[in-house]
Amino acid sequence: MSDPWWRGAAIYQLYIRSFADSGGDGIGDLAGMRARLGYLRDIGADAVWVNPWYVSPMVDGGYDVADYRDIDPVFGTLADAEDYIREAHRHRLRVIVDMVPNHCSSSHPWFRAALAAGPGSAERARFIFRPGKGTNGELPPNDWVSGFGGPAWTRVTEVDSRPGEWYLHLFAAEQPDFNWENPEVRSEFHDILRFWLDRDVDGFRVDAADTLVKDPALPDMADLPAGAPSPQRGQAASHEVFRGWRRILAAYPGDRVLIGEIWLDLHDRAAYHAPDELHTSFSFDLIRHPWSAPAMRQVIDATLKSATTTGAPPTWLLGNHDVTRVVTRYGRGDTRLVPDVQAADIPTDHALGTRRARAAALLTLALPGSVCIYQGDELGLWEVENIPADRLQDPVWEASGHADRGRDGCRVPMPWSGAAAPFGFSPDGAAAEPWLPQPAAWRDLTVAAQDSDPASTLSLYRDALRIRAEAGLGGGPMTWLQTERGALAFSRPGGLACAVNLSGHPEKLTALARHREVLLASAPLEGSPDDGRLLPPDTAVWLRTV
Ligand code: GLC
Repeated sequence: MSDPWWRGAAIYQLYIRSFADSGGDGIGDLAGMRARLGYLRDIGADAVWVNPWYVSPMVDGGYDVADYRDIDPVFGTLADAEDYIREAHRHRLRVIVDMVPNHCSSSHPWFRAALAAGPGSAERARFIFRPGKGTNGELPPNDWVSGFGGPAWTRVTEVDSRPGEWYLHLFAAEQPDFNWENPEVRSEFHDILRFWLDRDVDGFRVDAADTLVKDPALPDMADLPAGAPSPQRGQAASHEVFRGWRRILAAYPGDRVLIGEIWLDLHDRAAYHAPDELHTSFSFDLIRHPWSAPAMRQVIDATLKSATTTGAPPTWLLGNHDVTRVVTRYGRGDTRLVPDVQAADIPTDHALGTRRARAAALLTLALPGSVCIYQGDELGLWEVENIPADRLQDPVWEASGHADRGRDGCRVPMPWSGAAAPFGFSPDGAAAEPWLPQPAAWRDLTVAAQDSDPASTLSLYRDALRIRAEAGLGGGPMTWLQTERGALAFSRPGGLACAVNLSGHPEKLTALARHREVLLASAPLEGSPDDGRLLPPDTAVWLRTV
């Protein structure tokens, strides 16, 4: 029997709001997605992961879900979603939907009912309500801080108009956390999973998978000994939740997948990969490390070792809708992804960043495992760091007291064609501008501009994904080849090798890997075939070795 598709798939992450707007309201939608299915197939994607499309007040880009069983009208209808899944399958693309189990929207009927029903009610028991501290309950129940900044608790006004209990929200105040100790919550999500599986989705990307269950004692962070495990993440009881989910998926035909979003270190993340829990989770480690050969090699080794131990393949990525675009990260002196490196005032060299991002694409696409490509990275889009403050939409901007501009810069609508905004994102003569402004310089990065240019980033991705599929690079082992300290080279089954130069000087190609032919290069090579070709700094190649 062949391996399940998700062990080595190329997954395209589609940020629906910013992909393609068919209606002209400046916001991407299902009809736009459907019209562009050919584009995804043409790039060589095996699957598409669609960010949340559910009914939502959109306080957090749809991660505040008000109805898990319907589509937000701004994107289309449930019938459109069903149609999209069917059409995607016809294009031989699998569809992964986003499941958001940690919290819902404060407009969700359950949360409204909880507010109306009052303290001690069964309705409140679906969430995490607690009385406040202080003489009149005026202080939050503990010292937890929300992931977006500010306290993780908000006090409600009871029906008698008096200030009342507090509820927990690890993210925005409009995103109340569910109480996963409550059997009703568990069975509700089983039903929701079945609802979408019945509509033939191929899997779920599980949002904030490690935070569902909290330490029931809700201890103050300040009281925890240094190095103590977080009471907000990785609790033992969350494993039981995913065992239940896995059983549900297993009852459906075909290979359906659960991919966890888990920002824990490799060891703690691996705990979710037991054979009866999540099938895989995103390998965020690469993007948290600097652009350096030893660091990359160490991360790749550790990730593959963990994959061998747990049996869960890696799911590599260079970006997503939550982090600074890869071109911008790699165009900075400090290439790590840490919050204070997101600051817009760090000088960025886009040319250098693009060069490294292209090399990094060849590196990650040559690795065994799945890979997730964030919409627009295949075009080499950079982080838009000058969005006017009055256009910023990410709740992080307000919650951080304007200290952090948030994640809008990596969510700017796709440039498809044309010489000026909206670059074919919206139809000609659209009533509204794109929901976030696109830089004028993206005229050179549109799909149309790159499509027939063999040197473009789009062509590089397309060529790499084609070779990757033909050679079956998603599976099988990799073997490191001996190189200088600043370079990486490894061979893959089928006579293919990848070499990446992360040093500041050119490296002799033959010294990196014996080869018969250069299949693909992220930048032109230097030197001549007679004197020996040189791999310039920040460049990667795929080589045929036999
Ligand atoms: C995840 C999502 C992010 C969202 C958060 C809260 O991290 O990727 O976009 O803001 O969860 O749902």
